[in-house]
Amino acid sequence: MFKVALIGAGFIAQNHIAALKKIPEVTIAAVITRNSETGGKVAQECGCKWYPDLAQAIAEAGVNTVDICVPTGLHEFYVIEAARAGCHVFCEKPVTFTCDSFDRMVKACEDNNVRFMVGQVARWWPEFITIKEYIDQGKLGDIHMIYEKRLCQHPTWSTWHRDPAMSGGGLYDLNVHDIDYLYSIFGKPESVYANGWKSSTGCWNHVVTNLRWSCGTKACVETSLEMTGNWPFSIELRIVGDKGTLSYALTAGFNINDGEMGSNLLWYPVGEEKPVAIEAEQIDMFHAELVEFFDAIKKDRPTCVTFEENRGVLEVIEASLKSLEENIVVTL
Ligand SMILES: NC(=O)c1ccc[n+]([C@@H]2O[C@H](COP(=O)([O-])OP(=O)(O)OC[C@H]3O[C@@H](n4cnc5c(N)ncnc54)[C@H](O)[C@@H]3O)[C@@H](O)[C@H]2O)c1
Repeated sequence: MFKVALIGAGFIAQNHIAALKKIPEVTIAAVITRNSETGGKVAQECGCKWYPDLAQAIAEAGVNTVDICVPTGLHEFYVIEAARAGCHVFCEKPVTFTCDSFDRMVKACEDNNVRFMVGQVARWWPEFITIKEYIDQGKLGDIHMIYEKRLCQHPTWSTWHRDPAMSGGGLYDLNVHDIDYLYSIFGKPESVYANGWKSSTGCWNHVVTNLRWSCGTKACVETSLEMTGNWPFSIELRIVGDKGTLSYALTAGFNINDGEMGSNLLWYPVGEEKPVAIEAEQIDMFHAELVEFFDAIKKDRPTCVTFEENRGVLEVIEASLKSLEENIVVTL
């Protein structure tokens, strides 16, 4: 039985709670936040108690696993603390800001023989799963160009996103989804060039990244955590291959959970007049990523999100930051 301490009980924790409740061998045994009032309410929803720290949650509730949902700048502290206490660790994205920080987290988990997985949830996004299958099965042929976008207004539920040391801005907070997705398919790119807009608080919140792989694939990824006007949360992924073009577009409300979601996934095969609409099987992506984590522990197998990929993605984002700051192409 996995006795999980949820560390952080804000926006994303709600998705984790719903997902964890659906996994039979998991109990949410503790909620840890810095605020006893909001933490207490969430703990009540989960049928457990609020704790001020992990040591007390382990001593009183027998916690053996943590699910880290606090602001990114706090991830390293909690991952290392949990690993040293002998707990398995699931951690929200972006795992951290630098490869050095990630290495310290991995070392603490390996030294203490606990499992560690980063929640790169976009890999379980239903349409993204289907698109990867099309690529892996060679249905697109040789890929000419990829365009990927993820744009939203600035979060209104927190202030920490404005602090580059806590969120890393849109470059880390949002861009990591798309860089990780491309990395999971094509591996490490050979070069990166990024252009963007930096907010008055020092966050690179609107970034366009151009990536090239040695296999010839090229991608342009646009990310914004600070769209102006009433811009809706929107995602696009378009892949142009010599056998056809695959195109996905989603438009939600202010945020992903708001309003009606209009989405479509269309396949434009070469030689056909009309596109074909593709229905991707709709799954709860947060449930799917957490099932992967617990199943890997139970079966003592590696998770499908590897440390090599997590570290490589951080290398790409660190290279994008260098490119933004120095206006240069960075070779990886
Ligand atoms: N996978 C996704 O799609 C996705 C979406 C949103 C956020 N996230 C990630 O999840 C993490 C949390 O983001 P959020 O939007 O839920 O933030 P949030 O501000 O809504 O919630 C943060 C929570 O952490 C708690 N907290 C803050 N400081 C703490 C401390 N020192 N000790 C213990 N608890 C503390 C707060 O009380 C709050 O409960 C970030 O890393 C973010 O990038 C992922």
